[in-house]
Amino acid sequence: MHLHSRDEKMNQTEERKREHVQIALDEDVSMHHNYWDDVHLMHNALPELNKEDIDLSTVLFGKKLGAPLIIAGMTGGYAEGKKINENLAAAAEKLQVGLGVGSQRAALENPKLKETYSIIKEYDVPLKIANIGASQIVLWEKEELLEHAKTIVEMIDADVIAICLNFLQEAVQPEGEAHAKGCLDAITMLCKEFKKPVLVKESGAGISFNAAQSLYHAGVAGIDVGGAGGTSFAAVEFYRAQMKNEEANIRLGKTFWDWGIPTPTSILEVGKANDWKLPIIATGGVRSGLDAAKALVLGANAAGLARCLLKSAMKDSRATLFSCDLVVRELQTAMFLVGAENIDALSSVGVTYDEFKK
Ligand SMILES: Cc1cc2nc3c(=O)[nH]c(=O)nc-3n(C[C@H](O)[C@H](O)[C@H](O)COP(=O)(O)O)c2cc1C
Repeated sequence: MHLHSRDEKMNQTEERKREHVQIALDEDVSMHHNYWDDVHLMHNALPELNKEDIDLSTVLFGKKLGAPLIIAGMTGGYAEGKKINENLAAAAEKLQVGLGVGSQRAALENPKLKETYSIIKEYDVPLKIANIGASQIVLWEKEELLEHAKTIVEMIDADVIAICLNFLQEAVQPEGEAHAKGCLDAITMLCKEFKKPVLVKESGAGISFNAAQSLYHAGVAGIDVGGAGGTSFAAVEFYRAQMKNEEANIRLGKTFWDWGIPTPTSILEVGKANDWKLPIIATGGVRSGLDAAKALVLGANAAGLARCLLKSAMKDSRATLFSCDLVVRELQTAMFLVGAENIDALSSVGVTYDEFKK
């Protein structure tokens, strides 16, 4: 590649990262319906436990967490992303919850951007998750993929590497790379050859029973269902296309705004395929500790939160900790009201969701 075209590509990636965060802050990029509102937990009028005795701790990928929560990967790869990741890392350290970073492709293209991700190494976060897009890994040969995987894991001292399935976004994005052919082979190879656990993560369109079965057979260590109901990447790309006057992409973003498998449905789908009882993370539209409790009752092992933390993470570490701590308190309150003294006990709580009932 010519030097100037490589520089151009680097600048475009940085610019895109910045635009994604800015649009997610300035515009309403949520789907039109949040499916957590359709899930109802059975109240227990006689919980027979004290709220302060509830144990929220859990173990995920062999790491002990203070609560079954993950701050889902959002950013890095442009200057201001460093502060966001740092604020999130400080909160994750304090509450001992998991933390992911956004796609680390930008730092592979431009090593000067490494610190926008590696800042999280300075915090004692119990579970750190590296991130790279699936549409990226299909372009690499085996050795190149293993080398890049090693680089991004070392960059943040990650415990797990997440491969982000982002084909909806790639399909509607003006500069999208919608090539999915070879994706499963690349994931299978990585699961077999790479020394860290591989988590596969959707980013808002959810994972079906069939997709989960393929991923489990590929050897993944866990699945983040990344379902519909929260941030819509079609919506984000709609606004980007508007900024660039790209008529066709404006239309695509609008048409696919609400595309995807609702997060609660996706938990049930992935759960049915999960013969190995591997961890399921539920990201997508989780706004509160109550939504997180619903996800856990439906069968997830942890809940992931992204956009609802972005505003405070842009502000400062105090505001970020306050937002995250509220989620923990809400989860504890929900557990009290359903009479669950620990995370395992949530699996026997009554719940209704559409035609699903237990
Ligand atoms: C600004 C922004 C940037 C994101 N970037 C990434 C990314 O680089 N990699 C990834 O796997 N997910 C990315 N996500 C998706 C989130 O991890 C999450 O799956 C999604 O936003 C749904 O969660 P939410 O409804 O709580 O926002 C991003 C989300 C936001 C809001």
